Amino acid sequence: MANVTVIGAQWGDEGKGKIIDWLCNRADMVVRFQGGNNAGHTIVVGNQTYKLSLLPSGVVQGKRSIIGNGVVVDPWSLLEEIARVGQAGLRITPDILVLAENAVLVLPLHRELDAMREEAASQKLGTTKRGIGPAYEDKVGRRALRAIDLTDLGALPAKLERLLAHHNVLRRGFGQKEVNAGALLKSLSEIAPKIVPFIGSSWRELHAARTAGKRVLFEGAQAVLLDIDHGTYPFVTSSNTVAGQAAAGAGIGPREIGTVLGIVKSYTTRVGEGPFPTELKDAIGEKLGERGREFGTVTGRKRRCGWFDTVLVRQTVITGGVDGIALTKLDVLDGFDEIKVCTGYNLDGKMLDHLPAGANAQARLTPVYETLEGWKESTHGARSWAELPANAIKYVRRVEELVRAPVALLSTSPDRDDTIMVRDPFI
Ligand code: IMP
Repeated sequence: MANVTVIGAQWGDEGKGKIIDWLCNRADMVVRFQGGNNAGHTIVVGNQTYKLSLLPSGVVQGKRSIIGNGVVVDPWSLLEEIARVGQAGLRITPDILVLAENAVLVLPLHRELDAMREEAASQKLGTTKRGIGPAYEDKVGRRALRAIDLTDLGALPAKLERLLAHHNVLRRGFGQKEVNAGALLKSLSEIAPKIVPFIGSSWRELHAARTAGKRVLFEGAQAVLLDIDHGTYPFVTSSNTVAGQAAAGAGIGPREIGTVLGIVKSYTTRVGEGPFPTELKDAIGEKLGERGREFGTVTGRKRRCGWFDTVLVRQTVITGGVDGIALTKLDVLDGFDEIKVCTGYNLDGKMLDHLPAGANAQARLTPVYETLEGWKESTHGARSWAELPANAIKYVRRVEELVRAPVALLSTSPDRDDTIMVRDPFI
């Protein structure tokens, strides 16, 4: 099967945007299947940097791009993003972009509820405050508005009434004003004509692509450790981020998702709250953050940094369904005398080879490290194995061995061309 599914195999921000953009060349269509504008995918092409959030990365190369039904879509944010990338020279027309008719809409009331909860909580989750969790709650609560509802404005007041009956109770509980139904209806009616031309059917697009023998790239957002089932619950996002979600969130069968590529950074980062066994709150953590420019694309928050955790990635390779990994930001490790990788955990004197499910146990883990020799040479911008120093190759090989997945791609700078292909994921 010539399709490829890309997922993050740590806590997000592994550099999925660049790898997806690189793979786009070889694909006919790109499909987002979960998440929303909590995602931030950065793509650098020469002097131009594109920061995408809801738009599938395929738009940069003018590939047909689908926002699948598994995505929650803030329509105002989508229009802003289309205008923003338009200024950078990308024309997003309905020939390029399709928004699944059954994708759920994120409304201002979702953003507000996300923020109210974060502010009120004694134990914060550190969400992006984009309303993602509340929108997914309304989806499974069967009261959400969906893209298709923008095509039938006459039926909207009754749907809104049902939704607001739920939200106004919550808002009163937070001591907040009820939602102004008239104003919301008006602003939905105003944006509807701009969104409706993009609305289509994700499953039919994919079926047609399959029939025509086209290559599809499924673009995951966030990462397996933020998965609502398999991540570090409750410090997770509200969707499934594993490869299995590509099928449900786009409208195709599970056998169609093709090769699964897990994107893995050569060290570990996390943004927001929650356990992080290899976190370094010292000069080394600072150095990784500075060299890797670890600030959130969406919120600008400083990312927490630490050594590579092979226990976590070995687990996400299994739960995520990863066939091969793309190892990114190898160049950030240049110049370290020694580099550590976590190979196990100590929990109250007991050795563990996996992440325990409970949040309290996760917070008490002490990492067990293996130390590898660093390298002094620069790997920045390397485009072939031959350009890599021997110790960098040893590092890559040891990572492969410990996570039990082969390296398919290596990335040595944010630039599209600074990529080493070890195995073609499309074959
Ligand atoms: P939410 O997705 O906004 O509900 O946030 C839940 C958690 O997921 C928080 O810890 C966020 O920082 C994290 N998160 C959400 N989206 C991303 C992403 O694209 N990259 C990294 N972390 C993310």
